[in-house]
Amino acid sequence: MTTPSASMDSQVAGNLKSQIDAQGNKVRQLKTDKAEKEIIDAEVKTLLALKAEYKALTGEDVGGSGKKSKKDPSQKTAESQMDTLNISPAAEGEDIVDPWTVSTTSATGIDYDKLIVRFGSQSIDEALVDRFEKVTGKSAHRFLKRGIFFSHREMSKVLNLYEAGKPFYLYTGRGPSSGAMHVGHLVPFVFTKWLQETFDVPLVIQMTDDEKYLFKDLTVEQVRKMALDNVKDIIALGFDMEKTFIFCDFDYIGQCPEFYRLMVKIQKHCTFNQVKGIFGFDDSSSIGKIAFPAVQAAPSFSEAFPLIFNGKKNVQCLIPCAIDQDPYFRMTRDIAPRLKLEKPALLHSVFFPALQGATSKMSASDPNSSIFLTDTMKQIKTKINKYAFSGGRDTVEEHREKGGDCAVDVSYQYLKFFLDDEEKLKKIEKDYTSGELLTGHLKQELIEILQKIVGDIQERRKTVTDEVAQQFLKPRKLKYDY
Ligand code: TYM
Repeated sequence: MTTPSASMDSQVAGNLKSQIDAQGNKVRQLKTDKAEKEIIDAEVKTLLALKAEYKALTGEDVGGSGKKSKKDPSQKTAESQMDTLNISPAAEGEDIVDPWTVSTTSATGIDYDKLIVRFGSQSIDEALVDRFEKVTGKSAHRFLKRGIFFSHREMSKVLNLYEAGKPFYLYTGRGPSSGAMHVGHLVPFVFTKWLQETFDVPLVIQMTDDEKYLFKDLTVEQVRKMALDNVKDIIALGFDMEKTFIFCDFDYIGQCPEFYRLMVKIQKHCTFNQVKGIFGFDDSSSIGKIAFPAVQAAPSFSEAFPLIFNGKKNVQCLIPCAIDQDPYFRMTRDIAPRLKLEKPALLHSVFFPALQGATSKMSASDPNSSIFLTDTMKQIKTKINKYAFSGGRDTVEEHREKGGDCAVDVSYQYLKFFLDDEEKLKKIEKDYTSGELLTGHLKQELIEILQKIVGDIQERRKTVTDEVAQQFLKPRKLKYDY
């Protein structure tokens, strides 16, 4: 029998949990709205006080959603059960990583190891990279070897399928919020292209023009135009039309009843409370925003593409993306079993930093933080020389004596993404750290590499006509039989 005081305690604990939930949502919304730091800090303080009160009463830690927040990794069993659905809002000083905000106070960037624990994903370790090489018989991409793709969910399952000769497909996407994509966006797309070439599998690319209409101050016409421009940028990266279907939500969903039915099934299995917890929506969020996550979830299931998969519902999906998109797919993976569908697997990348340094990601909404695929060769040179944050010392003498800091030097960080030659990269790191090389040298190397990459894309982009884009956008069977 429960004693009166025990039942009172549990009542108080229940009340506290609800308050923590509401306060967590408030903090998330303030962050989404990019409110003043002091306002967010004050609300985080209240949240932490509530959590402390809860812990004092129950002896348990609690997340923003009222669930226990800190998992003991040793207690996790199968990879598929490892997702942490509702992440408590970042506490004071913690990195913020969600689809709308990526920021940290640390000059060396986001603490990705901590993020793996918070999100409940798994790190891509040497053993997994070795397995990649063993299974494919190919040398792993530099993004894998250098930890740029650093986290995953159930990649081993995908490798097992491949080894057993069973099918899977790739799914990635872009939210067209600017006419031009930046070089940071190349990271998931370049890697996806390599995955497609390595595994020879179908690829679907979602253009969430609807998402950008709902979340940004843009008109339907603007986002549709940007989507088409971005589609051409993506095609210019060299995707194979016979293996790749690109679709814009505003067009495809109306053409494909199976996609719409799946979307509604996902909506039915996800409550407002859940999306509040995951995305920080609140009572003043438009119902369009609240319902949108189901749109990004749907392509994770093969029944969204009846022409490609011949109506098959359970072809495994693998999603390469930067880790900011993970909340959408935590939700998707949570819902999948309830729909008797396969959970999508994921590969997460780190962020390509802003020119100003690793405290924020390169973002199209800040033109000075980014190098765009439409920038001229001269603009690339000027931006890098003017804005790329240096890890060098104040004077040449001091630099020669103490050496530069690769961990914060943006040019070095960018070279890590785009300089393929492993030996050359190692030598640059060694000579910059010892002080032999100056920042100017690294900038020069980077300018040449980026001018070549962007220049090549611009050349190919000239050949991507409206007709070519429409061929990629046409719902159709790809070269694979199902
Ligand atoms: P979007 O347009 O913000 O970004 C497109 C892809 O680029 C990644 N990304 C970055 N990667 C490295 N460094 C950066 N600085 C950087 N900025 C963005 C994103 O993680 C993403 O992979 N809602 C999505 C569109 C989408 C999607 C998907 C993305 C729909 N379905 C499936 C990935 C997978 C969006 O707005 O992405």
